[in-house]
Amino acid sequence: MAAGSDLHEPGLALHIEDLTVRYGATVALWDIDLDIPPGRLVAIVGPNGSGKSTLLKAVVGLLRPVAGHVRIFGQPISRARSRVAYVHQRAEVDWDFPATVLEVVTMGLYRRIGWLRPVRKTHRRAAMEALAEVGMEAFAERQIGQLSGGQQQRVFIARALIQQADLVLLDEPMAGVDAVSEDIILSLLRNLRDRGKSVVVVHHDLSTVRRRFDWMALLNRRLIAQGEMHDVYTPANLKAAYGGQMAVFADTDAEETAPSERVGGQL
Ligand SMILES: Nc1ncnc2c1ncn2[C@@H]1O[C@H](COP(=O)(O)OP(=O)(O)O)[C@@H](O)[C@H]1O
Ligand SMILES: [Mg+2]
Repeated sequence: MAAGSDLHEPGLALHIEDLTVRYGATVALWDIDLDIPPGRLVAIVGPNGSGKSTLLKAVVGLLRPVAGHVRIFGQPISRARSRVAYVHQRAEVDWDFPATVLEVVTMGLYRRIGWLRPVRKTHRRAAMEALAEVGMEAFAERQIGQLSGGQQQRVFIARALIQQADLVLLDEPMAGVDAVSEDIILSLLRNLRDRGKSVVVVHHDLSTVRRRFDWMALLNRRLIAQGEMHDVYTPANLKAAYGGQMAVFADTDAEETAPSERVGGQL
């Protein structure tokens, strides 16, 4: 096959075209076009039920769209899988099954070493190094289900590190975690970005999104807006995405936000 014959927008971390996803009669995503440049810390933002989780699942191939396609660094997911790490929304993962933190991190190597190969000392060492990077090495032998939400997210970030993923997708990693963990998670994600990785995060909190992320896609089943944060974080766009739910956001970063910019300030 000619090299790159199915390459499509190889310069983009993520290229999504005409994507429509349904659950039975429910249209969760409608005709989404989205182009995410590489090396950015990207927020996917929208109200509850706006299709954010569905979008990530369609990107990693967990859901089959009724129309459209996705390219990751120019390739379909079937050929880009090893370059992509995905962390579920927490509520969706049942951690009742027994797995230690070290085992969870080592899973990040399975695409390279193969599922049936024994985990060697070098693999274990690599996993410990990744855990040290996220400050979780003391928890290596704990059951993953026993950790707090924030600690679990750090372990999943360690798994993405060891996988050497170029595109890391996380679904609400900061939901329900304490402020200290939130800061740690954010600095780990920034660190990934600073190493040239592309990081795409579903983020639930409009009051913090502007300061924390470089780039944003606003979603409400349709794509409302996409681009650099300062271009997209506008009253008109937020209103278009959130409509009547506007009261949920007031940017807490007061000194940076001119009163006229305060979306929802009248509410
Ligand atoms: N497994 C499913 N079966 C049926 N409907 C679903 C399923 N998952 C999500 N939905 C519906 O699809 C829409 C988008 O859901 P989701 O992507 O989870 O939104 P978000 O992550 O933005 O809250 C919602 O209306 C939701 O109820
Ligand atoms: Mg969700």
